[in-house]
Amino acid sequence: MNSTSLQDGRRSSCGPRPVTPVGILAEKLLSLTDSLDAGSVIDSQSMSELRQAMALASGLDSYVAKCTSPESAELAHLAKQTAIENWGGQFDAGQTEIPLEQEMLSGHVEGQFLKMLVAATGATKVLEIGMFTGYSALAIAQGLGRDGRVVACELDPYTAQFAQREFDRSEHGNKIQVEIGPASKTLRKLADGGEQFDFVFIDADKPGYIGYFRQLIELELLCPNALLCIDNTLLQGEPYCDETPSDNGRAVAEFNRCVANDTRVEQVLIPLRDGITMIRLVNQQVETEEPK
Ligand SMILES: C[S@@+](CC[C@H](N)C(=O)[O-])C[C@H]1O[C@@H](n2cnc3c(N)ncnc32)[C@H](O)[C@@H]1O
Repeated sequence: MNSTSLQDGRRSSCGPRPVTPVGILAEKLLSLTDSLDAGSVIDSQSMSELRQAMALASGLDSYVAKCTSPESAELAHLAKQTAIENWGGQFDAGQTEIPLEQEMLSGHVEGQFLKMLVAATGATKVLEIGMFTGYSALAIAQGLGRDGRVVACELDPYTAQFAQREFDRSEHGNKIQVEIGPASKTLRKLADGGEQFDFVFIDADKPGYIGYFRQLIELELLCPNALLCIDNTLLQGEPYCDETPSDNGRAVAEFNRCVANDTRVEQVLIPLRDGITMIRLVNQQVETEEPK
């Protein structure tokens, strides 16, 4: 492990609070190496291995970002505006209905991943559950053709207005229709209107995930070949390594179990950022063999 990657890793750990399993791992390794550097006793071989582990963990996210196509100027502007907003202050002043934070924004690599998925699958009707300031909605809109449409659900009106201002700055913004209110209610309204979607991104309240998943299938909101992407299914590592998970950690673990046991779908959990599970409906009809 060379000193450059170690330095890069150290720099990357100085940014916002880590919200992914690998970011948290890097922070813990950094703190451990710092305290050992400060005088605790450890043999040189173990110290060297610890440094390599730290460099592997702390350099990963920045290297992945470096190897990913850059975000557009509009997405960079949206991310910057989100980062400088005083979310804690807005909640205290009663502007936002729930506490929100800049770390909720999906960001460059995940945005590019979603944009490429919708472009590659030829999706035309996209549903987003949990929009926040609109980063993923706008990234998805950029991957859609001219006739593509994103219906983006957001509970909080202040945040929805924030996002709309960013959409209005973009030539892709007119593809996004914002629906304000609890997503479960919006889903029922969309189903009543006969809407169906070929790509769905779920990134809202974690305890709501199982309900949204069931509503999408049972209210027939999915086109036959629809692809679902579910965010934060690693939830900072809590589902697999935390003995006392948070409410969100428990909810995501339960959601992951529910999907794994549901024979109507197949799925894969991709360890990108905080985990994205891709899900599609599988044909229930079993091909019968021709009698010999
Ligand atoms: C993690 S953020 C979404 C991030 C966004 N997808 C992005 O890429 O930047 C979750 C959002 O879901 C919203 N939310 C929470 N509960 C909701 C609900 N019941 N219905 C709709 N939106 C909800 C929150 O207000 C928040 O803005």
